[in-house]
Amino acid sequence: TVPQIQRLLNNAHVLKQTSTPWLYPTGGLHHKRAKTLRLPSQSLFNKSVALLFSKRSTRTRVAAETSASLLGGRALFLGKEDIQIGVNESARDSARVIGGMCQGIFARVGDHSEVEEFAKHSPVPVVNALSSLWHPTQILADLMTLHENSHLFGSPEPVQTEDGTGKGKPKGKNALPTLRPLTIAYVGDSANVLHDMLVTFPRFGHQMRIATPADAKYRAPDAVWDRVVELGCDKDIKWTADPKEAVKGADVVVTDTWISMGQEAEAEQRYKDFAGFQVTEELCRLGGANPDWKFMHCLPRKKNEVDDEVFYGPRSLVFPEADNRKWTIMSVFEYVHFSVIFSRSQDVF
Ligand code: CP
Ligand code: NVA
Repeated sequence: TVPQIQRLLNNAHVLKQTSTPWLYPTGGLHHKRAKTLRLPSQSLFNKSVALLFSKRSTRTRVAAETSASLLGGRALFLGKEDIQIGVNESARDSARVIGGMCQGIFARVGDHSEVEEFAKHSPVPVVNALSSLWHPTQILADLMTLHENSHLFGSPEPVQTEDGTGKGKPKGKNALPTLRPLTIAYVGDSANVLHDMLVTFPRFGHQMRIATPADAKYRAPDAVWDRVVELGCDKDIKWTADPKEAVKGADVVVTDTWISMGQEAEAEQRYKDFAGFQVTEELCRLGGANPDWKFMHCLPRKKNEVDDEVFYGPRSLVFPEADNRKWTIMSVFEYVHFSVIFSRSQDVF
């Protein structure tokens, strides 16, 4: 829900601010900041999170491993070559056994049904670390990055009060900045990352403009679109096959790889179908994007979908976005941990 996501983002912001001086102390121990150093929350002290990854990962894995240790716990990386699952043992049995020894499971899978299967049989919470349909933790980092950079979008200085009315108790001066409603264009493949944007960004007040190739196979699958409609997000989404039309008035332009993990056999056809979809300065100028548009990408990135000028240029938020994978995943771990302690719903999203 939106309040849950807001809570996750606010806590990610707090964790970042608490942990950063601890991890990267400046000025030595005599510096006055040293006196205010606080050890990040040790909420996972002596606890273990299993990282059940059947696909490659740089960001999600490193974020999970480093943030579990910062919270005083431990992450066990269990790649598909390491454990019995799928070869000598069913997902059901593995989920029960791993869940009997660890306090949470963070699972990156092929088909989305695999993570559902873990969740069904695990005695501990299971969080999706990417599936064929969804990539929820990515979107937390994207939202956090947009909020942190709200000044780039000319967001008005908000009246920061806890109740949001401008009359209640003022928020701490370090609260995550608020963000004006944006027009967010996505030019590329309708894959897991986009799918989570479709069900999240409109609920935060943002408009989405999507361009995918004309062939219906590049549209969001029914399971995703049904959820978009159920959440009432469809009215804030416009879909086209023309990248220029999609970027019109865009404050942010986003893309992802055209060939997601597992689609390598379709590469040749996909390169043909995505001709003209590369994000460039020219595309956004001709399409009439907001002159101050910013660029985002979940990474890993290939040059096909965005050229170097944009990717490494001043519009790009891609590396702060990647860094924020850590704080948001750390926040998810804490959230899940406290949800279990307080017997709240185990369903984070
Ligand atoms: N963005 C993302 O999920 O990256 P990895 O696949 O490297 O984890
Ligand atoms: N759509 C991409 C995202 C990688 C983080 C994939 O599934 O490979």
